[in-house]
Amino acid sequence: MDVLPFNAVHIDLVDTANKAALDKLDAYKALMSADEHERMARFVFDRDRRAFLITRALVRTMLSRYGSVPPAEWRFIANVHGRPEILDRPPGAPDLRFNISHTDGLIACAVTIGREVGVDVEHTGRHLTHDVAGRHFAPNEVSDLRKLPEDEQKKVFFDYWTLKEAYIKARGFGLALPLGDFAFKLNPPAPPSITFEPSLEDDPATWQFMQDWPTPHHRLGLAVRRDGADLPVRLRFVTP
Ligand SMILES: CC(C)(COP(=O)(O)OP(=O)(O)OC[C@H]1O[C@@H](n2cnc3c(N)ncnc32)[C@H](O)[C@@H]1OP(=O)(O)O)[C@@H](O)C(=O)NCCC(=O)NCCS
Repeated sequence: MDVLPFNAVHIDLVDTANKAALDKLDAYKALMSADEHERMARFVFDRDRRAFLITRALVRTMLSRYGSVPPAEWRFIANVHGRPEILDRPPGAPDLRFNISHTDGLIACAVTIGREVGVDVEHTGRHLTHDVAGRHFAPNEVSDLRKLPEDEQKKVFFDYWTLKEAYIKARGFGLALPLGDFAFKLNPPAPPSITFEPSLEDDPATWQFMQDWPTPHHRLGLAVRRDGADLPVRLRFVTP
């Protein structure tokens, strides 16, 4: 058992090239539900099947470190916007909340108790086919981004992207929440801050945002609802 993330966030990361994880794929298969097996079978590429398997193993083994449920026995249900959540929490078990993100080479799972949490990881070498910032970011974000030297813009773009994704994932809405209705201000080395359009009816003071570079090519953004002081965030690489 691990220490429970009451008033804390734990983020476990898996490098998808991790040999120890790749050696355990058969064991990971045994943890999945029939529905997860069906989803896995729909992937065309082996690489995507492997990432899917490792992701399921990461979530299940991570949750089992906090709740007395064996990894294969967790059951999940997606909310109306697709966010998986724990189904049938055993009586007395902590109100574990989690969020998953995967990108080329990296999988992340953030876990906390009784509060909204969203995580996003992106490979910063990712090729973008259209002007995502111009089309989807808030006007102030676009103008702050455009003020930067061109070579910095691509890097800082992923700061906004991962933070915006982390927030919409924490809320559980996904892209049903308009990306232009909230704006981040990057204040390094201070944490980023957020402002909301009135339509979102959300309070910036109740959010904590965190960023990290888990590898030189991966940007990570975290959003977690807090009710007081900042929460400690533990980040580490694991083999599920
Ligand atoms: C689905 C979405 C929630 C995240 O997509 P993404 O960034 O491509 O993918 P990530 O790997 O970070 O997240 C996927 C995981 O989020 C979880 N998820 C799915 N729907 C979710 C929702 N509504 N809220 C929170 N989490 C959700 C799932 O666990 C999913 O993984 P799984 O299918 O393996 O279980 C949604 O925001 C989306 O489609 N984004 C598209 C990306 C984009 O164009 N962004 C614009 C730039 S800001």
